[in-house]
Amino acid sequence: MAESTVTFRVFRYNPVTDEKPYWALYPVTVEPGDPVLMGLMRIREEQDGSLAFRASCRSGICGSDAMVIAGRSRLACKTQILHVLNAQREVVVEPLRNLSYVKDLVVDQTPFWEKFYQVDPWLHEDPLSKPPTTERLMQLPESEFDDISKASDCIFCQICYSECPVNGMDRAFLGPQALIKAFRFEADPRDHGTPDRARTLNNQEGVWKCRTTFNCTLSCPKGIPITKGIQALKREMLTVGLGRGGGV
Ligand code: SF4
Ligand code: FES
Repeated sequence: MAESTVTFRVFRYNPVTDEKPYWALYPVTVEPGDPVLMGLMRIREEQDGSLAFRASCRSGICGSDAMVIAGRSRLACKTQILHVLNAQREVVVEPLRNLSYVKDLVVDQTPFWEKFYQVDPWLHEDPLSKPPTTERLMQLPESEFDDISKASDCIFCQICYSECPVNGMDRAFLGPQALIKAFRFEADPRDHGTPDRARTLNNQEGVWKCRTTFNCTLSCPKGIPITKGIQALKREMLTVGLGRGGGV
């Protein structure tokens, strides 16, 4: 296959040693089909061992190599280099947005995970019923089960969090991933966690802060209809009652 040389323009910043961020340029020989992650690995192995980025599965499963490539948050292992070149034959690589820098392309994920746990991302038992002695099946029409199934596909890549303009303006907003995880359990007929979750969801920094820009839905690498789930949560919070759990 035809090889060619492109330039990786990579955001570099070590808060311990650098006064400010800077761009580093690396020539990389590529073949059609090579993913951005492969280019970064070659740079680290052959040119600069100090370049920091996260990656693991190399197949779109672990979600760890999310970064901003050519201006959009994407998985580096699922993005082909030749598809994201600019007019100078550069591929521009930056860390995710809306999270602070640790080093180079590595961001501090702490706020993302704190918000994830704020929505009680587990099934709440009915406090009034005895523990089941048999498997409890989720009895739902197929279309409703499909929504739950899709929401369960999340790989925690944080791309939706990075692309959400509301997260960019208000760091307290729960963000799309925590909300779609809450939807996954709120839509489950076996769950009884609504009163507990409503304290977080039915709140100024919860569902009501979402501005339905669809950035999350359009950028999610797993095709999860995040905005649809958030809208369903809003309808559910209206039935809980405006004002309960913090109000709007
Ligand atoms: S909802 Fe989609 S974009 Fe957001 S963290 Fe999960 S997989 Fe990534
Ligand atoms: S390395 Fe796991 S999703 Fe890309």
